[in-house]
Amino acid sequence: MSSARSTLAALRVQGFGTSIFTEMTLLARECGAINLAQGFPDFDGPLEVQAAALEALRSGDNQYAVSHGQPDLRAAVAEHALRFYGQQVDGNSEVTVTSGATEAIFAIVQALVDPGDEVIVFEPYYDSYVPSVVMAGGVARSVALQPPAWNFDPQELAQAFNPRTRLILINTPHNPTGKVFSQAELEYIAALCREWNVLAVVDEVYEHLTYDGIAHVRLAQLSGMRERTLTVSSAGKTFSYTGWKIGWVIASPALTAAVRSAHQFITFSTATPLQHAAAAGLRLSDGYFTTLAREYREKRDFLAGVLQRSGLSVLDCAGTYFLMADIAARGFDDDVEFCRFLTRNVGVAAVPPTAFFSDANKALGRRYARFSFCKKMATLQLAAERLEQPWKQ
Ligand SMILES: Cc1ncc(COP(=O)(O)O)c(C=O)c1O
Repeated sequence: MSSARSTLAALRVQGFGTSIFTEMTLLARECGAINLAQGFPDFDGPLEVQAAALEALRSGDNQYAVSHGQPDLRAAVAEHALRFYGQQVDGNSEVTVTSGATEAIFAIVQALVDPGDEVIVFEPYYDSYVPSVVMAGGVARSVALQPPAWNFDPQELAQAFNPRTRLILINTPHNPTGKVFSQAELEYIAALCREWNVLAVVDEVYEHLTYDGIAHVRLAQLSGMRERTLTVSSAGKTFSYTGWKIGWVIASPALTAAVRSAHQFITFSTATPLQHAAAAGLRLSDGYFTTLAREYREKRDFLAGVLQRSGLSVLDCAGTYFLMADIAARGFDDDVEFCRFLTRNVGVAAVPPTAFFSDANKALGRRYARFSFCKKMATLQLAAERLEQPWKQ
């Protein structure tokens, strides 16, 4: 055994640890708490989509899919891009189907990052980003989104670009902050990508969850960005079937070829019948997508009211299904302690946002807690009853 190893695990995964999400889920279960920590719905998505999955299963569509995705789903991804963004996409040469957005990001990084290359990430970040970069031998360079508006410092971002920068990884609408990057912010990022010849990866899994008339802007649509942007999305959030793990990457034919090279040796292909169901979802009428956003807006407003009446102050949420609450108003200054307290003493679980920050920037997340509102109204009402009572000390 190599002397550099301190455990059985290879060096590349040492330090990844077990996430706080696992701890909070276990604690919530132990305490019988209402789980507003988990970022997935406690209800099923559209029945038509489920019916399409069943039909595909029953009609014998159960063998390996085409490695880069069933033609039907790739065509549906292209139709969806045209319908919602006016974006022309060739389903044959510009779409790759993956096992969720998580695999899409992993495959992109494996395909495009050489050891020593730098990848710019905004903190707080979805927890798979940095491990994906580390496993490729890349170096994650983070730029903080500053609370409470979660804006980045333009100068700090400009200074993060250098000749070693290969990719910038952006998530909009953004988990956990609920920020939706504005057109002006994306234009600024696009200009830096062009100047430094850097590729952009945009995680758009919450693309249909924006509120109050705020539009999601697709970076790939900005001038000069089509050839240097990889757009990632998935069916999980839009169709409320997060367990199906059907995702995709839209990119130029040259970038797509690179992504497919990596993807074929990561998962090879993705569940065939569920790809047909995802295609059916992407072809649902406009009404489905507007109703989804309206229902989530109502849930956001309901939960924001509850949190406010319970003495927390709530930050703006323009997109996603997460609300960030400021816990300082209730006298707390440590998010992990607060989330444990809330789960044990109040019976509602939330996520401590420091889990989304590197050690250097944890202080930025410490006075907040993230609450998910992707739950049935009955679940949110139950949480309201508990949160609005005096809290047991
Ligand atoms: C920002 C972000 N990206 C990606 C994912 C995962 O997407 P998928 O389930 O399609 O892998 C999530 C899920 O929570 C997320 O919040």
